[in-house]
Amino acid sequence: MFRKCWLTLTTLSLAVTSSLAFATNSSVSDMTTAEVKGADVADSVAPELTTKVTGKESVVANQYMVAAANPLAVEAGYKVLASGGSAADALVAVQTVLGLVEPQSSGLGGGAFLVYFDAENDLLTTYDGRETAPLAVRPELFLDKNGKPLKFFDAVVGGRSIGTPGTVKLLADMHQKYGTKAWESLFEPAINYANNGFTVSQRLASSIERDKERLSRYPETQSYFFTPDGQPIKQGSQLVNKAYAQTLNILAKEGGEAFYTGKIAQDIVAKIHGVSDNPGYLELEDFATYKVVQREPVCAPYRQYDVCGMGPPSSGALTIGQILGIVSHFDLKTLGPNNPMSWQIIGDASRLAFADRGRYIADSDYVPMPHGLLDENYLAQRAALIEKGKALTEVTPGNPPWDVPVAYADDQSIELPSTTHIVIVDKQGNVISMTSTIENGFGSRVMSNGFLLNNELTDFSFATHKNGYPIANRVEPGKRPRSSMAPTIVFKDDKPYLAIGSPGGSRIIGYVAQSLIAHLDWRMDIQDAISMPRMVNRFGTYDLEQGTEAASFKPVLEKMGYQVEVRDLNSGLHGVLIGNGELVGGADPRREGVVLGD
Ligand code: GLY
Repeated sequence: MFRKCWLTLTTLSLAVTSSLAFATNSSVSDMTTAEVKGADVADSVAPELTTKVTGKESVVANQYMVAAANPLAVEAGYKVLASGGSAADALVAVQTVLGLVEPQSSGLGGGAFLVYFDAENDLLTTYDGRETAPLAVRPELFLDKNGKPLKFFDAVVGGRSIGTPGTVKLLADMHQKYGTKAWESLFEPAINYANNGFTVSQRLASSIERDKERLSRYPETQSYFFTPDGQPIKQGSQLVNKAYAQTLNILAKEGGEAFYTGKIAQDIVAKIHGVSDNPGYLELEDFATYKVVQREPVCAPYRQYDVCGMGPPSSGALTIGQILGIVSHFDLKTLGPNNPMSWQIIGDASRLAFADRGRYIADSDYVPMPHGLLDENYLAQRAALIEKGKALTEVTPGNPPWDVPVAYADDQSIELPSTTHIVIVDKQGNVISMTSTIENGFGSRVMSNGFLLNNELTDFSFATHKNGYPIANRVEPGKRPRSSMAPTIVFKDDKPYLAIGSPGGSRIIGYVAQSLIAHLDWRMDIQDAISMPRMVNRFGTYDLEQGTEAASFKPVLEKMGYQVEVRDLNSGLHGVLIGNGELVGGADPRREGVVLGD
């Protein structure tokens, strides 16, 4: 059996008339310019707002498929697959183009988590290319001189938030293990676009416009995203990035190691130390010692499926597994998507799971974690707390099975990432589900060698302790910040059935869980499951997607006792259904992604 359940890894009536048909609406919320004021208002602002919604239809193919957030990147991956390349080959082409054309979301300066199904060996495994905290940092990294958490963007913008990037090493390791084409050849599309220019998309242009103050703080970033007369680059302009082309040329010729030991690492370190208003702590040693970690997948049973994903330091698979484990005690299938009772069950299951996530989940290489977060009996006890028709009045972390319990305080991290999701299936049946990020939109806003550097360290809790108890997800040297990224592969009868994932900060968990329930329980076509109006509850308000039928659930959910907010909910799901004898792909209408396959 190739999959292990987390349980075994001990080391470590209210009817509404509305229906959830997708309604298009391109309005952008007022929250676009809102500032996050501090740790106490965690998660109150969407990481990237919806800029345009377009109707999309499923794409069907027989042999191979790629789904990602930008048509140029998808086309680059498609050509690699069409010419006989493997999923790992196509990944290099897709990620290097995405880093150019969707620079606000992911790139060479960031990190990623990847779930991989190796068809030949019938093996599911995961790769952790998460950024690491510099060896020189202390837990108080994000506290001011009075011991108070910094304001969010005071922490984000500049060198302080930058962790050792993992994406290049992940691409290189994947290619070394599973690549079939010459490494150098896979950089051609991105080098070509970087040298000759690409057309700036609507999403990139509006993201630059919205972030123009922060993007103009550092000269290299300013000169890339603004015209010589100081105007933000507009949709439809041709953007050339010679520095990025040069970086890619070095990586293509010298291999991924060149990122970690040569001039590129030296430049990044010098740049980070030279940020005058907020310098950072990365040193060449952090680069030279960086490693991608291969980890066991975390799998949770759901109905007749196994839902597998990324374990710690990501909270993705464990929290989704808890939500599904709790809702499996209810007949969601019969209730259906139009019944508010379904959303009460999903909402409270999510609140319960997020309570555990906040207390227990962090980088398990650094802190002990309960082994029983997916324990069947434990989740049955959690499900028994849910009262039909009435929101739980109080939600607290539970006591999952744990041999040697440690007392932690609840996490206080913020998480407002940008991010992107890629799904690739090749002719051989290998499957990649990878979520890739530089954290906030445009990351730290610090640019070096043609790419933006991440602000991943702000995924740590800013506070180190609360009421004398340590917070599991506090900053520590070399540690990986807790993530919500949830690259997922679902299995049916021990065969890959569906690969899916999304950007969206800690809402990723809700977006992926909702889409899984929509497809697996409500039998929605994969595109419909991806497109459907979003309804997400983490640990605070019940968030309903504005401009869609989801908003009509506000009164009934409020009557049940929820605090409800109608807001922009900007998922960016990409999914490929594998298990029914053909490949069926869907791309989120809220972003610019597409699916291509043959
Ligand atoms: N920074 C995105 C995440 O890890 O969830």
